[in-house]
Amino acid sequence: MERVKTGIPGLDEIMNGGVPKGQLVLLSGTCGTGKTTICGQYVYQGLTKFGENGIFLSFEDMPDNVKKNLKRFGWDFEPFEKQNRFDFVRYDPYHIEEVFDILESNVREIKARRIVIDSVSALGLHVRDKAELRRMIFNLSNLLRKLDCTVIMVSEIVPGSAGISRYGVEEFVTDSVVVLYYERNEFTFTRAMQVWKMSGSDHSKKLHPYKITNKGIVVQPGEEAFMRRK
Ligand SMILES: Nc1ncnc2c1ncn2[C@@H]1O[C@H](COP(=O)(O)OP(=O)(O)OP(=O)(O)O)[C@@H](O)[C@H]1O
Ligand SMILES: [Mg+2]
Repeated sequence: MERVKTGIPGLDEIMNGGVPKGQLVLLSGTCGTGKTTICGQYVYQGLTKFGENGIFLSFEDMPDNVKKNLKRFGWDFEPFEKQNRFDFVRYDPYHIEEVFDILESNVREIKARRIVIDSVSALGLHVRDKAELRRMIFNLSNLLRKLDCTVIMVSEIVPGSAGISRYGVEEFVTDSVVVLYYERNEFTFTRAMQVWKMSGSDHSKKLHPYKITNKGIVVQPGEEAFMRRK
């Protein structure tokens, strides 16, 4: 099985070598768990280490804001934008059907191999009907599969909820799922992640601690985190 290395220290190890090429990965977690950082790191590593072009699609945050935050980790996307190897697409989720065409032509133009979507949770702000929303996420995932890229799709979990995604549908339309946790252990907060599922491949089943450092995310593949389960 061909793998796409995220280039995120430790993450490829717990994914048995990386994301299976062409897969759609759900990355979910509560706020502040590092979802946007992982997205930026994945695309930046693609550009700088693996010669893979990328697209960052945002339904909420403004490009300048996200780019400014990611630059603090030392990831400057601007030169790659100028070379037409990277594009930051901010799209209003109000006209979601149009984003399909835009994304498709962007992928073609940039020759993107990596796409990140941050995040599908924002779609719910514009679409109240649950069935409609699920259909939308389903359509989006179908489109992404056709684009022949390896994709990370973010979903934000509401704190305290028992689910692993916002709308309870994202984990069924994606091939792999990585869940990020941020929980209190008596006196300290622990960050940990787990590969929840991975289509057609083995992976670590453990809960692994990770850190957000000034150089980005670092996962500890040899360590196991212990958390109070709800
Ligand atoms: N330079 C840095 N060094 C260390 N930690 C940092 C740095 N920058 C950000 N962080 C940590 O990363 C967290 C935010 O990460 P990020 O924005 O990727 O999370 P997120 O899951 O996307 O959040 P949200 O749900 O708000 O979108 C901050 O709360 C902070 O703890
Ligand atoms: Mg974010």
